[in-house]
Amino acid sequence: MLKLSILFLVAKTLAQPVVETWVYSSFEYAPNPEPTYATSVDPKAASGHYAAGYDKLSTLHDAVPTTTYGKWKPDMSNTYTDSDDEYGQSAWFEMWATANIQNFTDSALYTDTVEPTAVPTESLVRPPPDSFKFDDSLKFPSDFIFGVAGSAAQIEGAVSEHGRTPSIQEFLINDQRPRDYITNENYYLYKQDIARLAAIGAEHYSFTIPWSRILPFVLPGTPINKEGIDHYDDVINTCISYGIKPIVTLTHFDTPAMFLGDRNMSTDDAYFYYNGGYDNDTFVEAFVNYGKIVLTHYADRVPIFIGFNEPFLYSGNPLGMKHVVQATKQLHSFYHDEIKGCGKFGIKFNDNFGVPEDPSNPDHVAAAKRFQDIQLGSYGNPLFLGKDFPDALKETFTNDTRYLFTDEELKNASFGADFLGIDPYTYTVVTPPEGGIEACQSNTSHPLWPLCVAESQTRSDGWKIGYKSESYVYITPVQFREYLNYLWNTFKAPIIASEFGYPEWRESEKALGDQVYDLGRSVYYRSFMEAILQAINIDRVKVIGALAWSFADNWEFGDYKQQFGLQVVNRTTQERYYKKSFFDLVQYYQERSS
Ligand SMILES: *[C@@H]1O[C@H](CO)[C@@H](O)[C@H](O)[C@H]1NC(C)=O
Ligand SMILES: *[C@@H]1O[C@H](CO)[C@@H](O)[C@H](O)[C@H]1NC(C)=O
Ligand SMILES: *[C@@H]1O[C@H](CO)[C@@H](O)[C@H](O)[C@H]1NC(C)=O
Ligand SMILES: *[C@@H]1O[C@H](CO)[C@@H](O)[C@H](O)[C@H]1NC(C)=O
Ligand SMILES: *[C@@H]1O[C@H](CO)[C@@H](O)[C@H](O)[C@H]1NC(C)=O
Ligand SMILES: *[C@@H]1O[C@H](CO)[C@@H](O)[C@H](O)[C@H]1NC(C)=O
Ligand SMILES: *[C@@H]1O[C@H](CO)[C@@H](O)[C@H](O)[C@H]1NC(C)=O
Repeated sequence: MLKLSILFLVAKTLAQPVVETWVYSSFEYAPNPEPTYATSVDPKAASGHYAAGYDKLSTLHDAVPTTTYGKWKPDMSNTYTDSDDEYGQSAWFEMWATANIQNFTDSALYTDTVEPTAVPTESLVRPPPDSFKFDDSLKFPSDFIFGVAGSAAQIEGAVSEHGRTPSIQEFLINDQRPRDYITNENYYLYKQDIARLAAIGAEHYSFTIPWSRILPFVLPGTPINKEGIDHYDDVINTCISYGIKPIVTLTHFDTPAMFLGDRNMSTDDAYFYYNGGYDNDTFVEAFVNYGKIVLTHYADRVPIFIGFNEPFLYSGNPLGMKHVVQATKQLHSFYHDEIKGCGKFGIKFNDNFGVPEDPSNPDHVAAAKRFQDIQLGSYGNPLFLGKDFPDALKETFTNDTRYLFTDEELKNASFGADFLGIDPYTYTVVTPPEGGIEACQSNTSHPLWPLCVAESQTRSDGWKIGYKSESYVYITPVQFREYLNYLWNTFKAPIIASEFGYPEWRESEKALGDQVYDLGRSVYYRSFMEAILQAINIDRVKVIGALAWSFADNWEFGDYKQQFGLQVVNRTTQERYYKKSFFDLVQYYQERSS
């Protein structure tokens, strides 16, 4: 009886009309809202000093002559007369001529630095407001690092100009896909690119320097390329003049080609993705030498340095991993002990967080642990915890033991980074492989060896993990927050979300006006920023920064269709156009910064 009367009450309540009386009024079209504009960065915001200037630090790297090299094109012949100089013009030219670069094209628009023009006010009008809102009760800390990122091979072009010699990227793609020779021509358009970042309000710009442009002959004792040094000096000074704080990465998948010798990066000795030459015996000393040259030149004005980008994708094998750890530690010590830099030196990882399909199943949890241990723990254990490589790695690679640390080596390589950068694009549902992890890890013929974890984009309830992009990325902010908790509680180091971004499904096929109205990407960014705010304020996880990838559409390793950019780039004219997501991301941050 009681139940019945409740039901009756509920039914009665539902039956009552929401609107009691309907009204007529005089209809008028809504007026156009007054345009609002992006808030640019404060031009004085980047005037900090983080170390002594190069004049004081120059003695900290080996004295080598500084010189200037030319430009190479396939149809040129070597007319240089200094063939007796092993580091001369002639030798430089031959490095390109003998590299056998396939179908080198030179249809770039620019051959010289372009002076910037003021960003037109009409391009800074904010997009129409959305009909839904994000929470605005939480705030970012006042010293939060907010900005955007890009990488040299993906944007610069000018690969055989201003002294640069071949990197492994020129060999990565061996089919008919576009190469990195031209890309966004940012090498000559950087001033305009930086002006545009400042105008829309990006506070930090994270860029990368190609090793082979600073040291064309790569190894210790070889000459420094003056044009290369001057170029990045001006990139840094241009950032500062607009109020943008520069972040510099020393290598982003573009190691000099010579470390591979005659080997093939995609097959020889590459158990994990590509072999970027990090396992070469000469690598650590050479990388540290290169790093010292960059740090001594720029540490006065650059607050944050990153040694390696996503090393798991290019370490190739455990010896490469060990070298990454050792080189990172040595440069970290150099930065703090010799340069006495008061900024930060860190590293950035990829992993796309493995989450057990069934967290109540210990085997699934073990698979997730293995997924993270091999991809992150291999570097993070020594660099953040002073601990050895994870058991998962040691139990899988048992033949060639050169990668194992001796006690002294481990001590030497421990605690070598100030922050943990993570590129948390999306997440992965993981389960153990058929037959179990142990059977897989001891069987090099197993299709999932060496990671030995089955990966999926479908949840146990049958739904996909999120809203799909053009590539592997799905919109997964809930797991991103969980990931931040995992990283902080595992490695106990400050975290920078050093890349995150979303290539809209089939964006490149849309008309320009529809490309810039990128709602999916905008939701991705704001929901990921919200996850960061929740991790900081509710979970007490120390996230110190967020760098959106990428500041413009770029060369995605042979592909222009995976558009990760916050700006459209016209591939014919090189013109840039802000997307809605850029406005929304910056506004989201500005409204929640303290
Ligand atoms: C180079 O160009 C030739 C002729 O257009 C073409 O047949 C070949 O496949 C191209 N090679 C690569 C690697 O793109
Ligand atoms: C290692 O790097 C050096 C350059 O420092 C190169 O001459 C050599 O061929 C490389 N060795 C292998 C095995 O790739
Ligand atoms: C590397 O090896 C793969 C597989 O054998 C082959 O397809 C590719 O062409 C090779 N690449 C180079 C640059 O030799
Ligand atoms: C280790 O050596 C054995 C015997 O030569 C071989 O079957 C196995 O595949 C090797 N394992 C690795 C990881 O190279
Ligand atoms: C320890 O590191 C120093 C310099 O960083 C190096 O000279 C030395 O060889 C290293 N020792 C070992 C055992 O790795
Ligand atoms: C190793 O894996 C291969 C491929 O899955 C399989 O055919 C073979 O039986 C496995 N070997 C052992 C010893 O389990
Ligand atoms: C790039 O610009 C050219 C010249 O203005 C134009 O014809 C072309 O349609 C543009 N491309 C795209 C993809 O918008």
